Amino acid sequence: MSEKKETPILKAEHLTKMFPVKKRKLIEKQRYVHAAEDVSFEVYPGEVLGIVGESGSGKSTLARTILALTPSTSGQVFYQGEDITDFKVSAGEKRRLRSEIQMIFQDPYASLNPKIKIGNAIAEPMLLHGQASSYAEAKEKIQHLLEVVGLQPAVFDRYPHEFSGGQRQRIGIVRALAVNPKLIFCDESVSALDVSVQAQILNLFQSLKEQFHLTYVFIGHDLAVVRYISDRVMVMYLGKVMEIAPYSELTGDDIHPYTRALLSAVPEPSIALHKERILLEGDIPSAVDPPAGCRFCQRCFMAKPICFEQEPDMKTVGTDHCVRCHFAKEG
Ligand SMILES: Nc1ncnc2c1ncn2[C@@H]1O[C@H](COP(=O)(O)OP(=O)(O)O)[C@@H](O)[C@H]1O
Ligand SMILES: [Mg+2]
Repeated sequence: MSEKKETPILKAEHLTKMFPVKKRKLIEKQRYVHAAEDVSFEVYPGEVLGIVGESGSGKSTLARTILALTPSTSGQVFYQGEDITDFKVSAGEKRRLRSEIQMIFQDPYASLNPKIKIGNAIAEPMLLHGQASSYAEAKEKIQHLLEVVGLQPAVFDRYPHEFSGGQRQRIGIVRALAVNPKLIFCDESVSALDVSVQAQILNLFQSLKEQFHLTYVFIGHDLAVVRYISDRVMVMYLGKVMEIAPYSELTGDDIHPYTRALLSAVPEPSIALHKERILLEGDIPSAVDPPAGCRFCQRCFMAKPICFEQEPDMKTVGTDHCVRCHFAKEG
């Protein structure tokens, strides 16, 4: 684990992203999808922050807002202490951010042009970002990286359709590594893979982290996968952060009921908590104009009247451990 006193590599402060809902009538009140709301967290160099929550909880929107792929509604983002909100920085700085902060998606195939050789597709951004001064230099580096991730250098001259899901994800990793990133967002990067391939790619992520001194924000809907690689876990529900804690802290009574439900689905018999499977009823509700109380109240097995009336604040319940629940005890 990293030393916490240093400057965070990434910091979000009250970051909010709302999407306006298309009006059906002109006089209708403007409604918003509260995709990510008042999100604050820090990531330290060398650490892996996991972000977990059901589909629709705002994880991808949060990542896209941080990377300025969509404009923020309010709040701030800091990278190495510098305000980079919406990437409102100089052109040179923007170019640096676009290479130092990378994103690896669920399906790299979707972003690989089927008609372009893999090597050329990867070489292009390298030359653009000045990570290689010539095509030959880019090729040499890419072939080396292909070997690092367990592929043949000859993959350089092949086409995306020739590869399996796991191989494509390795190619996606090479593409991210090629521009010398410091921080990588992995958004459901192993979710589409078979369990055995998933484990291989997770191991690869882990070893690359050491080798290239990387920091990850590892996003996924499955806590069983996310906790495998994460030092700390941030739990999101309906656009809000419900809990942030080191995974090892998620054992006692101070756990958010939503996290508790997610944990109960993690197959790990050593933790007593998991004896009872907590099944959440229904689906995550709509993020359009969410109710005033706790975002989780409709599905919470601990909910009391106050939960429907008043939104709980984030409380510090232990070292590095914050929970948004009326019943969490500050300590
Ligand atoms: N471009 C968009 N326009 C409108 N609503 C969106 C858009 N992108 C995401 N949303 C909504 O924002 C919420 C969060 O979505 P998303 O960030 O994809 O969640 P997750 O990645 O956790 O599954 C969802 O209600 C989704 O429908
Ligand atoms: Mg997503």
